[in-house]
Amino acid sequence: MSLSKRLKMVADMVRCGSLVADIGTDHGYLPAHLTRSGKCPGGIAADLRKGPLENAKETLHIYGVEDKVQLRLSDGLDSVLPHECDDIVFAGMGGTLIAELLSRTEWVKDKEKRIIAQPMTHSEDVRKFFVTNGFKIITENACYDDRNYVAICAEYTGENEEKDDLYHHIGIHPIKGNEASLNYAKKQILRIKKRAEALQSAGVQSPEKDNLFAILKQFEEEQLWQE
Ligand SMILES: C[S@@+](CC[C@H](N)C(=O)[O-])C[C@H]1O[C@@H](n2cnc3c(N)ncnc32)[C@H](O)[C@@H]1O
Repeated sequence: MSLSKRLKMVADMVRCGSLVADIGTDHGYLPAHLTRSGKCPGGIAADLRKGPLENAKETLHIYGVEDKVQLRLSDGLDSVLPHECDDIVFAGMGGTLIAELLSRTEWVKDKEKRIIAQPMTHSEDVRKFFVTNGFKIITENACYDDRNYVAICAEYTGENEEKDDLYHHIGIHPIKGNEASLNYAKKQILRIKKRAEALQSAGVQSPEKDNLFAILKQFEEEQLWQE
């Protein structure tokens, strides 16, 4: 089965031989692909709602992997047990929700596990969660499909990384330098600029506005890429 570029980017970050938990699985394509291809021996396809789990059930049946992937009605990782997964995927959700779901599951702080997040919005919340909660971001990637997408892969080390707000917003993408990464970083900067200018023109005095302008200033000073 072939995956979209976005889900392939996510699948590539899953380790060979790992049990995978796909949180917010919807159609179940990711665990179906990973088990059908033999990359993963099994896993969990979890979703908050029954409808998506029905879709996943059908996908798993079509690809003949229903005996390898368990369906699970679960709010985040609430109904998933630590021993059931090595690599945990949150794809296609907002970054704020991903960070919230991770923050309430203490057992994800395990050096043997890997977290792969593919936030559709607010990727800065995911990076900030990782670097302030003892996780190290080991790699990131971006791709262009119908729009730009980003994926962030992290493992727990127990040590917080010293990272600033500019990093929270654009991660390693400026130095990766490929087209999709640069486009992603540019869009993030543009978003900050628009928000800062909107607050400015509304005459709002707030720490948020000051912080956004400080990020833009740092970005310009560091000249992270040349146009
Ligand atoms: C847009 S779909 C993404 C599907 C798939 N992961 C992908 O990337 O193509 C988001 C899915 O997340 C599920 N979801 C939303 N909040 C959730 C939560 N708190 N716990 C588990 N699943 C959730 C939704 O029901 C929906 O099926």
